[in-house]
Amino acid sequence: MFQSLPEAKTDAILQLLALFREDTRENKVDLGVGVYKDAAGATPVMTAIKKAEKQLLETQDTKSYVGPIGSRPFCSAMVSQVFGSDADTDRIRCAQSAGGSGALRILSDMLRKIRPNAKVWVSDPTWPNHVPLLTAAGFELERYQYYDRSTNSITFDQMINTLSAAPENDIVLLHGCCHNPTGADLNMDQWKAVADVCEKRSLFPFVDFAYQGFGDGLEEDAQAIRYLASRMPEMVVAASCSKNLGLYRERAGAAMVLAENSVNADRALGMLGGVIRSNYSMPPDHGANISNIVLSDPALNAEWQGELNAMRDRMIGLRVAFAAALRKRSNSADFDFITEQKGMFSRLPLNTEQIETLRSEHGIYIVGDGRINIAGLPGDALDELAETIVSVL
Ligand code: LMR
Repeated sequence: MFQSLPEAKTDAILQLLALFREDTRENKVDLGVGVYKDAAGATPVMTAIKKAEKQLLETQDTKSYVGPIGSRPFCSAMVSQVFGSDADTDRIRCAQSAGGSGALRILSDMLRKIRPNAKVWVSDPTWPNHVPLLTAAGFELERYQYYDRSTNSITFDQMINTLSAAPENDIVLLHGCCHNPTGADLNMDQWKAVADVCEKRSLFPFVDFAYQGFGDGLEEDAQAIRYLASRMPEMVVAASCSKNLGLYRERAGAAMVLAENSVNADRALGMLGGVIRSNYSMPPDHGANISNIVLSDPALNAEWQGELNAMRDRMIGLRVAFAAALRKRSNSADFDFITEQKGMFSRLPLNTEQIETLRSEHGIYIVGDGRINIAGLPGDALDELAETIVSVL
């Protein structure tokens, strides 16, 4: 049966991670997969999470099923974090998911059942896994130009022109904050224009929200979603606890639906529950359970926010220091854009050959499109790194 299978195509980001793990060079630098790293290059469990796990260990009295849509307290905590404490909860429903990707997938499966003829418009570029994920759900994809590598800026006019010509009722995938892979986010005026075009063309917003708190802050990063929610009759959001709660392998996330009214919201949740049941039946508990403990307990929440703020501040500091090192080494302002971008990623103007040279000759791991993980930058060796990068340009 399996002999006729073609060789599997591995995801570029995961392939790079595997190569990095196999590399025995001591001074190797991992700027690949989007995982936060501290100054020592480690990705420790957050202190607030450790405390929540201890609490859970002491108090959990059953391992019985959680049900397809998962924990209601976790879902309410997530709705309030994403849509705000004053969210219109009559119109919003939420299902616990297996990470942000799980949320993307179950929402895609649901949307595909409702609008089988719709296409999904994704930004060019976008997170590479958006493409197989949405395609596996059965969608045909279209692209809107989002970023110009030669100017390192958003091609907003092109984005709006493309979306203005999109067929009515199509779906638009938007990055809620900290655009992956570019780090270039829309400003609020631009979000208003996106809402206008979605309204005018009856386009359906599908927001990927994986990095809340990594850009400007938990509340600040949610402004775009909250604005869209104030304008749109309907939308969906895939939120993740992987990055801001550091729960990568626990697979905790939330699939959220905003409907026109409470009756429609219940219908959508019913359908989402059916999609989950026929897929993996029910979500895993641990990550969502400890996230809920952290989000709901005021002291733990404050401790977690302190840790999250420190992570964000470290990344912002690294952006500034790395841009300065590149300015010095290249004797140009060509890399200053790095300081203006948000979250975990920026894209360096490197071609495939240069990226390969950096990996094979210098042990510097960068995703094939030039995307770097800012948190992976070696704070104590930025000058050397900048010098090496400039030398291959
Ligand atoms: C990334 O973009 O590197 C992360 O979201 C991890 C992944 O699964 O690709």
